[in-house]
Amino acid sequence: MFPSVRLRRLRRTENLRAMVRETSLDTSDLIHPLFVVHGEGVRKEISSLPGQYHLSVDELVKECQELYSLGVKSVMLFGIPAVKDEIGSEALSDDGIVQQGMKALREALPDMVTIADICMCEYTDHGHCGILHDHEVDNDATLEYLTRQCVSMARCGASMVAPSDMMDGRIAAIRAGLDEEGFTHIPIMSYAAKFSSSFYGPFRVAADSAPSFGDRKGYQMDPANGREALREIEQDIAEGADIIMVKPAMAYLDVLHEARLRYDIPLASYHVSGEYAMIKAAAEKGWIDHDRVMMESMISIKRAGAKMILTYFAKDVAKLLNSQK
Ligand code: PBG
Repeated sequence: MFPSVRLRRLRRTENLRAMVRETSLDTSDLIHPLFVVHGEGVRKEISSLPGQYHLSVDELVKECQELYSLGVKSVMLFGIPAVKDEIGSEALSDDGIVQQGMKALREALPDMVTIADICMCEYTDHGHCGILHDHEVDNDATLEYLTRQCVSMARCGASMVAPSDMMDGRIAAIRAGLDEEGFTHIPIMSYAAKFSSSFYGPFRVAADSAPSFGDRKGYQMDPANGREALREIEQDIAEGADIIMVKPAMAYLDVLHEARLRYDIPLASYHVSGEYAMIKAAAEKGWIDHDRVMMESMISIKRAGAKMILTYFAKDVAKLLNSQK
């Protein structure tokens, strides 16, 4: 032990530190979430997410071209529909706004990985993530709608679907539905361990998707439950998920790490809107260093066990990584 052992020896210079660095971050790890809206030439900053925009399809294509050239080759699309109704009809239509975005991206950037978030809350007038019966989300009735949304996305060119609704049995239902329509090659990224989190606040402003009554605790997970999260993950792997996601990121790194130890499946972590907004706000006040806190957050998620990070910082991180090369 000390004084013969001195851990500081390998920290003395940057080249030594780089040599022993255990975790790295690459642009291939990043997935940028984007919000698509109807219209043309629309690029409107989202009040709750500074630096993030509502984009019409033409602007979405431009944004993705820039991301692609920076090395961010994966995006996750969310849609703001023209009309919301009881069953979220626009989510199911090949003319829906995300579907239009998928078609345009498939044309303009054929190699981009385009992931469709699959959920009904942005599309329903009540803001819940499924079909309602007597003010409760009906699990089994919702599965058919989620599957139809997935098939429509695949038909319009999505490279991957990512169900974020937290209904039981959805992965098996979606897998069967995709396979039946000939989409056996389309992977499913499951939001397997998605917690009922107040860190989604800025997203719900961006997507106008807050539930009109009640909350999501009847389907999203209790933040107190780590073991139950592992059961969710195990079940989704058994049902055929290709990638497992834990969400939010930083408050749930223990769940991510335990999943990394137990399962040999690619893991993703979603650094959500509230996590992004907190860093932006504190940096704006001059209380923290924006870039350093951003990079430390990213590396902590990698260290805990994620390969992929869904983050609104993807473009900023890519620019920084490219400038360091
Ligand atoms: C849709 C969905 C949400 C997020 C991703 N997909 C919102 C929610 O569950 O209320 C949150 C993403 C974020 O906060 O950045 N169900």
